[in-house]
Amino acid sequence: MKNKLIEIIKEAGEIFKEGYYSKKDVTFKAKKDLVTKYDVAVENFLKVRFEKEFYDFNVIAEESDNTDKIFSNSIIVDPIDGTTNFVNKLPHTAISVGVYKDKKPYIGIVFNPILDQLYTAVVGEGAYCNGEKIQVSDESDFQKALLSTGFPYSSGTCEDDLNDVVEKIKHILPRCQDIRRLGSAALDLCYVASGIYEAYYEMNLKAWDVSAGLIILQEAGGKVSNIDGNDYVLFENKYILASNGYVHKELIENLNF
Ligand code: IPD
Ligand code: CA
Ligand code: CA
Repeated sequence: MKNKLIEIIKEAGEIFKEGYYSKKDVTFKAKKDLVTKYDVAVENFLKVRFEKEFYDFNVIAEESDNTDKIFSNSIIVDPIDGTTNFVNKLPHTAISVGVYKDKKPYIGIVFNPILDQLYTAVVGEGAYCNGEKIQVSDESDFQKALLSTGFPYSSGTCEDDLNDVVEKIKHILPRCQDIRRLGSAALDLCYVASGIYEAYYEMNLKAWDVSAGLIILQEAGGKVSNIDGNDYVLFENKYILASNGYVHKELIENLNF
């Protein structure tokens, strides 16, 4: 299944690339939440091909109406993760595809067609970037940890969420090496998996933002949890916390001060 998925995702990458380099009409799903015709085009391409090829799975995808979709044997798709970057031609943006069997992680694929970086993982078989095995970093000193985070779209409309983001950064920034906000949750998780970041956290993400990245991270030796330190549950938890494992305890402590 993995190789067929990669073949289809790489084809979708051509539509992604064409859109990235062309002029885009942008519409707004919400105050800060953009969408382009390429989000829809990439998603439709993937959906048609996946439904034909993998008929045992349903496809849950960001730009689709998923109301009648039951999460079980599912392929969870974000056609363009990092749409704001895509629109602004910042090459940190990717197609994200996470495959679940009976709600359990099975395959994760994140493809950045602009930088030609393909992250893949099958549960039990390790994680790879362009065929090379990747692993989390072994840094265990939180003060030396490079963190990544994201700002929720709700920061434009919900004062509680905005205050939460700011208070957490105020607390954690002096206690770590530094914090990045590059704008693609899927790639952020892959960057922890590759040992670039030691940890990552964000609130209000959707299943398609993280469905693939969390599989890749776990296969690279990393840890994922909710803000209480319990297992992260797709579609349910407000916060996702991800790390190399070594700084996870302090990450939890520093977000629950
Ligand atoms: C977004 C990106 C971003 C994160 C947002 C997500 P989108 O996905 O992953 O990094 O901060 O919360 O919604 O909207 O570009 O697919
Ligand atoms: Ca996304
Ligand atoms: Ca998206």
